[in-house]
Amino acid sequence: MEATQDYIKKNEKKFLDELFELLKIPSVSADSKYKKDVERAAEFIRSSLVEAGAENVEVCPTKGHPIVYGEKIIDPKLPTVIVYGHYDVQPADPLNLWDSPPFEPVIKNNKIYARGACDDKGQVFMHIKAFEGMMKTNTLPCNVRFMIEGEEEVGSSNLGTWVKENKNRLKGDVILISDTSIIANDIPSIEVGLRGLSYVQVEVTGPNRDLHSGVYGGAVGNPIQVLCKMIDSLKDKNNRITIPGFYDDVLELSKEEREELNKTPFDVEEYKKDLGVEELMGEAGYSPLEHTGIRPTLELNGIWGGYTGEGSKTVLPSKAYAKISMRLVPNQSSEKITKLFSDHFEKIAPKCVKVKVLPHHGGEPVVTPTDSIAYKAASKAMETTFGKKPIPTRGGGSIPIVALFEKELGLKSVLMGFGLDSDLIHSPNENYGVFNFMKGIETIPLFFRNFTEMSK
Ligand code: BES
Ligand code: MN
Ligand code: MN
Repeated sequence: MEATQDYIKKNEKKFLDELFELLKIPSVSADSKYKKDVERAAEFIRSSLVEAGAENVEVCPTKGHPIVYGEKIIDPKLPTVIVYGHYDVQPADPLNLWDSPPFEPVIKNNKIYARGACDDKGQVFMHIKAFEGMMKTNTLPCNVRFMIEGEEEVGSSNLGTWVKENKNRLKGDVILISDTSIIANDIPSIEVGLRGLSYVQVEVTGPNRDLHSGVYGGAVGNPIQVLCKMIDSLKDKNNRITIPGFYDDVLELSKEEREELNKTPFDVEEYKKDLGVEELMGEAGYSPLEHTGIRPTLELNGIWGGYTGEGSKTVLPSKAYAKISMRLVPNQSSEKITKLFSDHFEKIAPKCVKVKVLPHHGGEPVVTPTDSIAYKAASKAMETTFGKKPIPTRGGGSIPIVALFEKELGLKSVLMGFGLDSDLIHSPNENYGVFNFMKGIETIPLFFRNFTEMSK
């Protein structure tokens, strides 16, 4: 183990240089303009895996963006860790809010600034470099398979099919994922829950064409205003979602479980200050940790219609649109919630408009165990490298494939992420601490060793 850690420490500069090459590739999965770049990023991951010592490495085409697979099977009798991550990134805009260009990585204040620095290229690369470290020093203690996809940020829609068709390549004992955060660099934690997601786009049509807002205004329903009213009615004064049946399947936590969750270090004043808000706004009767950890929510992600260009235009538009996401908790089902939403939204529409609901993508919520060998192996590894035992936390984000792995492969995941909530993932100036990057590379080999030993 010492040799591995030695190798890692000596190669920090090399690791960072290589990561920078990956970060320079704008692998934005949502925008077809970047299709070639997404392919280039897949190829980069492929060659990094080969160089690190993986075998049977392949860029596997799908109906969408490719999945990179690679493995090192040293002894079929030993345990097998499946490493999952994603090399695709969110769109970088608004570009004008970045202090340096999103695909020209730089280090400032010991942080790597670039789109994907944390989510998830930086964290995927930690795994490849930790593997390289174990290979170069002959210390890989068990088998490993890598599955690095290119469609996580757009809902992993083709990964499910690939998993179903490649079950033989996915024989293993646990899925290890670094795509989440810790509480702080001196408060390590492991996420043991992820929320599910239902995502829809709605279209509200009023008159059959754009109208003069003076000639017709006052007599005809304005779809933007109707949409605003409809959206407003989706939450009541207690910030509870009004869609009938929305909460029916929500697993309520016991008083003890809630008390335990609320012991997680969290400073409301710091939180508000950091966000520049004077007050928070969440479902009555729950704390902010509960709002994001164990309660479902409905959020407007975008709303548009009418004239938004320079100056003014007097128009009563024909159409208005919104993108709406609902984060789900155990035991809600994404399909059921999408249906409840659609039925309700169509029902509350006044007769002066027509409504269309277009479902986008979804994912199921998950809770991962803390009494598994894999969780204990991760906890012990982080305790060694951080000097403190990590706290189990409930994350608010979603990684839809985690529930699918459980369903299709019967495998649980361990979410051993190293990001911080302040890393600005999906936002301008996304960054990842060099500390976090190196801490991840140091911790991963310890997970492999602990997991192998504890599995005996
Ligand atoms: N890595 C994130 C999810 C995440 C971030 C989990 C921080 C926990 C802490 C992932 O890449 C992501 O952004 N997922 C999307 C879901 C997807 C279907 C677009 C999300 O949560 O919005
Ligand atoms: Mn991610
Ligand atoms: Mn993301």
